[in-house]
Amino acid sequence: MLLWFSALSSSFSSPVSLSPSLVPRVRSSYNSGRTFLGLDKCNACIGTSICKKFFKEEIRFGNWLASPLQLPPDYLPSYPANYSDDSKTWRPVEITRLVSKYQNELSDRRICASASAPKTCSIERVLRKTGRFQKWLQAKRLTPDLVQGLPSPLLRCPSQRLLDRVVRRYAEVADAGSIFMDHFTDRDKLRLLYTLAVNAHPILLQIFPGAEGWPLPKYLGSCGRFLVSTSTRPLQEFYGAPPDQAADLAYQLLGVLESLRNNDLNYFFYFTHIDAGMFGIFSNGHLFIRNASTLGVIDKQEGSQVATRAEENKDIFSCLVSGCQAELPSCNAIPEKQSLVLVCRQLLPRLLQGKFPSPVQEEIDAALTQCAEGTRPDPEVLGAASRLKDILRPLRTCDPRFAYRYPDCRYNAKF
Ligand SMILES: *[C@@H]1O[C@H](CO)[C@@H](O)[C@H](O)[C@H]1NC(C)=O
Ligand SMILES: *[C@@H]1O[C@H](CO)[C@@H](O)[C@H](O)[C@H]1NC(C)=O
Repeated sequence: MLLWFSALSSSFSSPVSLSPSLVPRVRSSYNSGRTFLGLDKCNACIGTSICKKFFKEEIRFGNWLASPLQLPPDYLPSYPANYSDDSKTWRPVEITRLVSKYQNELSDRRICASASAPKTCSIERVLRKTGRFQKWLQAKRLTPDLVQGLPSPLLRCPSQRLLDRVVRRYAEVADAGSIFMDHFTDRDKLRLLYTLAVNAHPILLQIFPGAEGWPLPKYLGSCGRFLVSTSTRPLQEFYGAPPDQAADLAYQLLGVLESLRNNDLNYFFYFTHIDAGMFGIFSNGHLFIRNASTLGVIDKQEGSQVATRAEENKDIFSCLVSGCQAELPSCNAIPEKQSLVLVCRQLLPRLLQGKFPSPVQEEIDAALTQCAEGTRPDPEVLGAASRLKDILRPLRTCDPRFAYRYPDCRYNAKF
């Protein structure tokens, strides 16, 4: 792996003298590295903002260092790694694929097929010729019609306010900050469109940053079809946690869902699908959303400016991942309780079952059952969740394992 990265860096920065016998080997590992990251597919990619750190070996995949010339197995959705700014201190990060390798290959084939091109074609050329991208090229501002028909729940009901935020916060261009795309090159536009069409997860991390209090990991950058973010351990690793920790995590999870329903910016976030890998825990005990790819957003302030004729706006960008089959519910059909029901049904029972003495356990189970019943009206589900939070609050302990609220919790019951 080290040699592979050296090979990458030597090909990108100043030429390093290599013994002739090394050159073919280095070139081939360089090429397989580029292919591994999906850099050869740019600008049908997320971006290149963090490639330099890979080339400088300031991002290192963890467990594969032992066998230098081997790339990590390519079937995993994400990889643990270490990240450094000075090559001395390292912190854990996560390197995540935009979609699985299989889905990548499938969507690349779909792109070629859409142009009746042979199995291998210039993906970028095909995408550039589409009517949608031609409209993007003309556009100064990202308007709802430009993203209509894209399958991501983020863009299901887009308001102008949300789309302006995407442009303003898009971290893959040099000067973020304006709602106009004047500073976007054609390349930047294609990358943004491709990312939004395939998986809006990296865009969500950029526009709702953890540093501003959103429950999302920090976006560090991208290279090819991979993104790098701060690292969390998935929730399922905590299913066997002791009662006080389980109570703490369940309490935080309910708090995160609350902040997704009610926040200063008046956006309503909901999950279309939930599994335990979608939440993660930082080393300080703080719980975050680890995978935002199924997170939908509704603007409670501006509403949606989209007519419901998404069908007419379907094109190749609508079909890259789902194959055009996915039918999403209409904007006004998302009930407030949606994410709660999913979490109370699928995650919290695994975390909280059989851990607490009687009658606390029975109270927890009863609240969970009510919260998980999707047929109940919103207020009943929200009420059950709030009751569950009240039961859990005193079951959490105050000690250094919960560094995100310790030692504050010793002096203030609010923590
Ligand atoms: C990161 O570095 C630390 C310390 O060198 C090491 O123990 C750990 O295994 C590394 N983790 C990964 C994922 O590479
Ligand atoms: C994120 O969630 C989606 C939907 O469940 C899943 O397909 C994808 O593999 C997940 N991504 C990662 C990196 O786990």
